[in-house]
Amino acid sequence: MQLTAEEKQLAVETARRVAASHRPGKGSLIPVLQEIQADLGYVPAVAMQEVAQLLNVPAVDVYAVVTFYNQFRLTPPGRRQVKVCMGTACHMKGGQIILESWERRLNIKVGETTPDREYSLERVACVGCCTMAPVVLVNEEVHAKVTPTRVDGLLFAHQLAKEQVEGGKAIEQGGND
Ligand code: FES
Repeated sequence: MQLTAEEKQLAVETARRVAASHRPGKGSLIPVLQEIQADLGYVPAVAMQEVAQLLNVPAVDVYAVVTFYNQFRLTPPGRRQVKVCMGTACHMKGGQIILESWERRLNIKVGETTPDREYSLERVACVGCCTMAPVVLVNEEVHAKVTPTRVDGLLFAHQLAKEQVEGGKAIEQGGND
């Protein structure tokens, strides 16, 4: 996914600021990456390069850590962050099928963001409401006993909501002309 010049600059500045407050060396790698993830919501390649240089760690090691741990994202999160619970209860109730339904409908893999940045998809550990399994979060909204048909329904509802917002904006702009 292409980042804008502003996003790249922000990523580099964030990496520099965070790395400056840690000692160089591999021991600082995870805390530094965690702070960058918390600030930006993801850890882009430009930030990884910067971290590698500043901590004096091979770039390949930085990349290995970011891709190994689920907590790190490589791409910016979407406006709607879809999190599919893959805890034991949800897994037993078909969580994998739900995850694959989202992947197919959005045409992305877990950990990715759609090109229009509308959706990102993640798998998460138990979110604490196992009786409602399988569970999906869309931003902070909890959806219980999700089925592939419900995935379609959610996407349809999002599309309608988006069209309403865009329609409202067009009317406002028309009124301002
Ligand atoms: S396993 Fe999904 S909510 Fe607990």
